[in-house]
Amino acid sequence: MTGGVVHIGVLIHLWLTMVNVEGWMYHFLDNETKTWNETRMWCQKHYTDIVMVYDGNVTCFLQETLTKKSSSPYYWIGMQKINGNWTWVANGQTVNYENWATNEPNNNMSNENCVELYISTDMEKSGKWNDDSCKNKKYPVCHQAQCKNSTCTVREDCIEQVNNFTCVCKPGFSGPQCEKVVSCDQLSMPPHGRMECSGPYGNCSLNSTCKFSCASGYKLNGTAELKCSSSGAWSTPPPSCSAECFPIVLFGGGLMNCTEGHDGIRSACRVQCPPGHLLLGFAEFTCRADGTWVSSFPLMCASYVHFLAALLASFVMSLLCCCLFCCSNCRRRKKPVRLRTQEMVNPTYEAEQTPLEGPLCSV
Ligand SMILES: *[C@@H]1O[C@H](CO)[C@@H](O)[C@H](O)[C@H]1NC(C)=O
Ligand SMILES: *[C@@H]1O[C@H](CO)[C@@H](O)[C@H](O)[C@H]1NC(C)=O
Ligand SMILES: *[C@@H]1O[C@H](CO)[C@@H](O)[C@H](O)[C@H]1NC(C)=O
Ligand SMILES: *[C@@H]1O[C@H](CO)[C@@H](O)[C@H](O)[C@H]1NC(C)=O
Ligand SMILES: *[C@@H]1O[C@H](CO)[C@@H](O)[C@H](O)[C@H]1NC(C)=O
Ligand SMILES: *[C@@H]1O[C@H](CO)[C@@H](O)[C@H](O)[C@H]1NC(C)=O
Ligand SMILES: *[C@@H]1O[C@H](CO)[C@@H](O)[C@H](O)[C@H]1NC(C)=O
Ligand SMILES: *[C@@H]1O[C@H](CO)[C@@H](O)[C@H](O)[C@H]1NC(C)=O
Ligand SMILES: *[C@@H]1O[C@H](CO)[C@@H](O)[C@H](O)[C@H]1NC(C)=O
Ligand SMILES: *[C@@H]1O[C@H](CO)[C@@H](O)[C@H](O)[C@H]1NC(C)=O
Ligand SMILES: *[C@@H]1O[C@H](CO)[C@@H](O)[C@H](O)[C@H]1NC(C)=O
Repeated sequence: MTGGVVHIGVLIHLWLTMVNVEGWMYHFLDNETKTWNETRMWCQKHYTDIVMVYDGNVTCFLQETLTKKSSSPYYWIGMQKINGNWTWVANGQTVNYENWATNEPNNNMSNENCVELYISTDMEKSGKWNDDSCKNKKYPVCHQAQCKNSTCTVREDCIEQVNNFTCVCKPGFSGPQCEKVVSCDQLSMPPHGRMECSGPYGNCSLNSTCKFSCASGYKLNGTAELKCSSSGAWSTPPPSCSAECFPIVLFGGGLMNCTEGHDGIRSACRVQCPPGHLLLGFAEFTCRADGTWVSSFPLMCASYVHFLAALLASFVMSLLCCCLFCCSNCRRRKKPVRLRTQEMVNPTYEAEQTPLEGPLCSV
């Protein structure tokens, strides 16, 4: 590429006048126009991307650097209306610096989604922006990033500026050499649980992780893994270990419908017996934090047929028992009634017992 493509003269001039030439470098064509799409493709092929005019310094620099035009076409810059918002295509950010010409953007052709930069002999409008149809042909302006991996330290981010860069501490680091690392509160081991912490800068510092687990019979209530963020806060509150209620045994084929508590721990169960069955026991169980159920046992689902049969059987059994008991009593009672001694001890006894004399069990 020769001088016309890149204004090498201007760049050499900048090299001579600026001590540090790292940072955004700008490249443009002033003898060949392209559509906005063609401009972006050309910039991405040869440099980094179509230019971002993100502050007044860039505007000033481009005004001093690009060839002034007395009439249209002017230059394309890397801004497009995406979903109704003006966006820098190179980094996807919506604009927070704007430099529109008077009465712009006016969307005159109703599809003016690209932005033209006036670099004009008319100082009134030079440096200002105008929205235009992306299909129109204008001169391309590109930028080229200068930050390299080795430009800043591993604890710093490299920020491109106009023909310069700065190294700023990454989030979580501070100090003149970014030597200070943010730390999070020391965590304590939860009762009935285990905690293991580790991290690149210590157990409780930036990007450290703490993993929690619970002893058997206990369930983790909360997040199992916490991370120390660059703001010095753990990602979530530390978890606790809650006792688990042991499973309820249900005889006779029923269904335990358990609902999880808001904390993810089984907190309440409802017994549902199959149709034609009767529940003998409690219908609802609630798990306490100490791992015991609020209701008690035992529990079973009995079919109505079996239940009624059992009821009838027990009725017959009790009748039988009663008979056996009474009959043996009748026989035994006949003798003591005639005992004179007892009559004397308790005179009312005979009177009470009198109706009972005779055959009691006539069945
Ligand atoms: C623009 O100028 C450059 C360098 O002077 C040259 O290589 C290129 O072909 C020119 N483009 C046109 C369309 O004249
Ligand atoms: C221009 O750059 C200088 C130093 O690089 C900075 O202090 C200043 O804030 C910038 N101006 C604008 C408008 O961004
Ligand atoms: C456009 O900007 C508005 C306000 O800044 C924002 O609410 C909206 O989400 C943005 N739309 C897109 C697609 O980014
Ligand atoms: C809109 O575009 C038409 C045709 O290009 C032009 O005649 C008219 O002056 C424009 N209006 C404004 C407000 O720029
Ligand atoms: C520009 O390119 C995009 C895809 O990269 C395409 O969707 C769009 O239609 C093109 N616009 C024009 C005006 O050619
Ligand atoms: C520079 O960083 C990129 C991405 O982070 C990596 O793929 C590349 O290997 C790095 N180069 C050097 C020289 O460290
Ligand atoms: C480049 O940036 C460094 C650090 O921010 C600053 O000291 C220096 O003055 C800048 N150089 C120019 C020419 O702006
Ligand atoms: C970090 O935790 C491990 C155990 O998890 C411990 O052995 C080590 O001493 C701790 N290191 C620091 C710097 O606290
Ligand atoms: C911290 O972790 C995040 C991702 O989890 C990573 O992108 C970042 O580089 C890490 N920071 C440091 C200083 O290691
Ligand atoms: C789980 O933790 C939350 C908040 O830390 C607490 O309100 C709740 O009672 C705990 N649940 C159990 C079953 O311990
Ligand atoms: C459990 O009970 C809930 C609400 O009481 C109900 O929506 C759900 O269908 C029941 N699940 C079963 C398997 O019966």
